Amino acid sequence: MHRNPVAKLLLFGATGDLAQRMLLPSLYGLHADGLLPEGLTITGAARHDHDDAAYRTFARAALDEYLKDDRKDAGTIDAFLERVHYQPTDLSDPASFQPLADKIGDISGGLAIYLSTAPSLFESAIEGLHKVGLAGETVRVGLEKPLGYDLPTSREINDAVAKAFPENRTYRIDHYLGKETVQNILALRFGNSFFEPVWNAQGIDNVQITISETVGLEERAGYYESAGALRDMVQNHILQLLALIAMEPPARFEGTDVRDEKSKVFRSLRLIKPEEAPHVTVTGQYAEGAVNGKFVKSYSEELGQTSTTETFVAIKAHVDNWRWQGVPFYLRTGKRMAARGSEIAIQFKAVPHSMFAGRGGLLQPNMLIIRLQPEEHVQLLVMAKEPGLDREGVRLREVPLNLSLDAEFAGTRRRIAYERLLLDLIEGDQTLFVRRDEVEAQWTWIDAIREGWKANGMKPKSYPSGSWGPSAAIALTERDGVTWQDD
Ligand code: BG6
Repeated sequence: MHRNPVAKLLLFGATGDLAQRMLLPSLYGLHADGLLPEGLTITGAARHDHDDAAYRTFARAALDEYLKDDRKDAGTIDAFLERVHYQPTDLSDPASFQPLADKIGDISGGLAIYLSTAPSLFESAIEGLHKVGLAGETVRVGLEKPLGYDLPTSREINDAVAKAFPENRTYRIDHYLGKETVQNILALRFGNSFFEPVWNAQGIDNVQITISETVGLEERAGYYESAGALRDMVQNHILQLLALIAMEPPARFEGTDVRDEKSKVFRSLRLIKPEEAPHVTVTGQYAEGAVNGKFVKSYSEELGQTSTTETFVAIKAHVDNWRWQGVPFYLRTGKRMAARGSEIAIQFKAVPHSMFAGRGGLLQPNMLIIRLQPEEHVQLLVMAKEPGLDREGVRLREVPLNLSLDAEFAGTRRRIAYERLLLDLIEGDQTLFVRRDEVEAQWTWIDAIREGWKANGMKPKSYPSGSWGPSAAIALTERDGVTWQDD
């Protein structure tokens, strides 16, 4: 990979929650391991009226709170903070940008901008940067979600960005792609020879993708209430996982090749017709209940008003192409569910004929479970014979072939997604960022579902916090004789 590192990083939203929890600790981690380009400066920008010193104090407090203890080292933190600067900036105020440009100074050595802002401010932000010369040839921009609420708003943002930044300098972030475990799907599929021959409609019966969370609203009411689970999790993370599972083998592990293949998958997603939406989608909203043994409030109580925003969604999707004809992809995500976990379960077809049937042996079709978090493991469920003389018939049992990646790589530090993505942004590698055509195809599919909900007046069904969602979500798969793979 050709690396083209920049000399400066500009971090918008520098006082926000994400900056404190993820961005600053990630940049520190890269610094501590000597991975940031020498001399790289980091300029934070936000509305707060800090100066450099006050922002360093703020950043120090964030590192203190969010870094793991074994990563904290006073000397290294001091050295890291020397890289850090700050400029108060109001993205809605055109007068804010010149002082920002002055603060950043010479950008001939390259500038990477990390931009996270409300969709309504993207346009003025890009325009402001462009006007003061912070969008030239040497500048690349990383965009954090939400990148719109639907296809038209996403296009507006993409158009606004494209006026100043061509696609090869635009880095759309989906933090799931930064997860080591998600990249491992590629290694599993394309680094081994034995899956690929059965990785298709002949070999696979169905695929389930679940991202379940135990958290609720988390101080994000303003954003979440206008987004809901479909936009917040399915449009981006779940569809990216689906694409990695469903795509054709890319020729190279490079931005163009990988994204070409993902994009084809998104364009092959079968659009859900309005009249189908009530049958192939289920929405829910959490009611009060107990999560991990603790009582928690309902969504509307947390919000302080009643709402029709979905905190859970389950969808039966199809990828209409040669490889996947007739294979349902069951997608599911929700807040306040029974357990936190991201998992992909691939159910293979049953053997064509069981030679054990005459002797009472029952077979289960094989299943491959790729567990992405909190633990990282791969499990292949295979049939084995129970020990015995079989005088009362053959007893067969499903046993797991376990591969714990946590244990296998116990000595290697796992990096958080943002370490990888920030470094790739700084060094100019677009492979793990989302291209415009991908985003737009994702929105096209999502918008059709929302239209279906609207046309049918569908309202989320209540589910108790600490459960696996509304019972209709169970019916969604059981109708097809498929059971969700729960813990
Ligand atoms: C974010 C969503 O993109 O992903 C959140 O906005 C969600 O609602 C989060 O909680 C989940 O990320 P992770 O890495 O904890 O699985």
